[in-house]
Amino acid sequence: MVVQEKTSSANQAIKNLIELIGFLVYSLTLMVVAVYKRCLPSIYQKKKRISGDVALVTGGGGGLGRLLALRLAKLGATVVLWDVNIKGVDETVGLVKGIGGKAYGYRCDLADKEDVYRVAKKTQQEVGDVTILINNAGVVSGLPLLSTPDNLIKRTFDVNIIAHFWTAKAFLPKMIENDRGHIITIASLAGHLGVNKLVDYCASKYAAVGFDESLKAELDSQGVRGVKTTVVCPYFIQQTGMFDNVSSKFLPKLKANDVADRTIEALLYEEDVVILPGYLKALLMLKPIMPWSVKSMFSKKFIPDASPHHQPTPIVQIKESEDSFPQKILNNSVSASVTQTKPNLDKQGKDL
Ligand SMILES: NC(=O)c1ccc[n+]([C@@H]2O[C@H](COP(=O)([O-])OP(=O)(O)OC[C@H]3O[C@@H](n4cnc5c(N)ncnc54)[C@H](O)[C@@H]3O)[C@@H](O)[C@H]2O)c1
Repeated sequence: MVVQEKTSSANQAIKNLIELIGFLVYSLTLMVVAVYKRCLPSIYQKKKRISGDVALVTGGGGGLGRLLALRLAKLGATVVLWDVNIKGVDETVGLVKGIGGKAYGYRCDLADKEDVYRVAKKTQQEVGDVTILINNAGVVSGLPLLSTPDNLIKRTFDVNIIAHFWTAKAFLPKMIENDRGHIITIASLAGHLGVNKLVDYCASKYAAVGFDESLKAELDSQGVRGVKTTVVCPYFIQQTGMFDNVSSKFLPKLKANDVADRTIEALLYEEDVVILPGYLKALLMLKPIMPWSVKSMFSKKFIPDASPHHQPTPIVQIKESEDSFPQKILNNSVSASVTQTKPNLDKQGKDL
């Protein structure tokens, strides 16, 4: 009896070992295939067509959201813009229509669940099923934790992550039903690295990274193949409303157009994770083995002060350069004016 038990447990151990080796070999093969696919010139890669899709961009009243809207419209998608800033939304709608695109704008406060569900219903009735959802809207408080008023901490979480749950709950069921859809989370590098004076912001962006990864895992285990998710994690961006007066040492701030181009590229090629600039991926891979002293040095040297100064940002013009997105992907050009009309907050959290 004892001998029989020993044999069966030895057999089980061998079975587990074989399974583990098989799993490792298969994982390695998948990784090689993924790297091979990534290295293929784009003409050999499968590219999604989004003409006829309905693409919702939250925070579409300015900044990155507006640039994304213009690109989506150029690719033939009907664009839906949500923002608390209705003036900004109207401007974006006008710009999209100006390039021959289709656009609908709605005022929506993402910090208010009921408003999200109400506007989601309206969008569905007036425009149709959303097939591309870009959770882009974001806010930052930019204060040391103990000086950040409670309402600003709550607002950061409400807009930067909790709203993603409401928008996903509103639009994901139809995507699953039709086995077609894409949810893009605009997170941040701050979702991978803690930064002084951005405790609430970083925590909300870490949550956004986790939201994307676990939603992807859930869809995968439910056998949903046609609904994709992508998380985009950019470093500081120039000339949008959020961090435009934050100075960055050594690492140049990203151009908003480049971030928009790369986001749309990731949508079309159904990429999982985008880190911008891409070479920072290597640094992030080393993060788990870096001692805190090294991480702290990076953080202090690269970003001496990540606190935005909350000045009403002047109107800025962002022009597509000749060699950017439209040339690479659309063979056309878009001119985008980004008007900063986001509701900036003063240190007490009042709208300016
Ligand atoms: N700017 C950067 O340096 C940077 C870097 C990394 C990631 N990001 C992320 O990129 C995204 C876009 O940011 P951006 O740089 O274009 O900033 P932005 O401030 O120009 O745009 C954010 C938009 O969100 C809208 N918004 C804010 N609160 C809202 C609410 N309650 N309901 C609806 N809309 C609301 C604003 O009105 C604004 O139009 C954000 O999620 C941000 O966290 C920005």
